[in-house]
Amino acid sequence: MSGAGRTVLVLGGAGTVGSGIVKALLEKGCRVAVISRDAARLEKLKSFVPASTRERLVTLVGDVGTEEGAEAAKNSVVKALGKVTDIVSSLGFSWWQGGPPHTQSLKDLHKVLDTLLLSTFTSWKAFFPLVKDDPNASYTFVTGGAGDRLLMPGTGFLTVGAAGAVAFCQIVREEYPDVPCKVNEMKLNLGVATPERIAPGFVNHLDVGEAMATILEKKCVSHHVICVNTPADLKTLIVEGKV
Ligand SMILES: NC(=O)c1ccc[n+]([C@@H]2O[C@H](COP(=O)([O-])OP(=O)(O)OC[C@H]3O[C@@H](n4cnc5c(N)ncnc54)[C@H](OP(=O)(O)O)[C@@H]3O)[C@@H](O)[C@H]2O)c1
Repeated sequence: MSGAGRTVLVLGGAGTVGSGIVKALLEKGCRVAVISRDAARLEKLKSFVPASTRERLVTLVGDVGTEEGAEAAKNSVVKALGKVTDIVSSLGFSWWQGGPPHTQSLKDLHKVLDTLLLSTFTSWKAFFPLVKDDPNASYTFVTGGAGDRLLMPGTGFLTVGAAGAVAFCQIVREEYPDVPCKVNEMKLNLGVATPERIAPGFVNHLDVGEAMATILEKKCVSHHVICVNTPADLKTLIVEGKV
């Protein structure tokens, strides 16, 4: 991919999945913007990416989990970068295992929904208008297999939040069937980790990043769920931009 001329906003770009995507996009020559609530996480991200690409990484402290916060973050992004060509939404958290529902409070459920579902909605509402009418633009959600089933005992609220995010992606595809912008969901049905934390059943976040870079470059699908079930699917995606 030649990323020259592409400006990508990676929501959740300081996270496990997002940081692999940010690095891959920078290495392809894109300008990349990342918003995080935590300045220290943004500093860590800056030291993680190659020094030669750092000047193309724009980091902003902000909270996209409220309508006001997302709107303010959008204004900052537009001011700093001008036109955004692609948006990747990789918000949420890597893992939650607080316990079975009868041990949890309403506050716990709110927290999970805030992080996985509500921030996906508030940021989409603010940022989608930046790309929706452009056939060369894209909005790609990252979701996970936790939305389909209980991964293990005590992870129930993770499934509730992840299922909400999957449903949100579905309604965006169906409510806006004709938008020129490429709207896709990359659904990762396996674990994702940094190279130091790779375990059986996990893939490298850098490979996920490479796959995302090819999806954004080739733009061969829209209104599509791109399922990654195996490492082989990821390899195919890296080459073809679809599975
Ligand atoms: N990791 C896996 O094994 C895996 C597997 C399959 C699917 N997924 C999916 O991938 C997505 C990302 O997971 P991850 O592992 O990368 O999680 P992560 O490491 O916890 O990163 C999530 C990111 O979301 C950001 N975020 C959440 N709410 C925000 C808000 N209100 N405003 C700004 N940023 C916000 C966090 O930013 P802050 O810096 O502000 O905290 C964080 O950087 C999730 O949807 C998850 O379901 C993950």
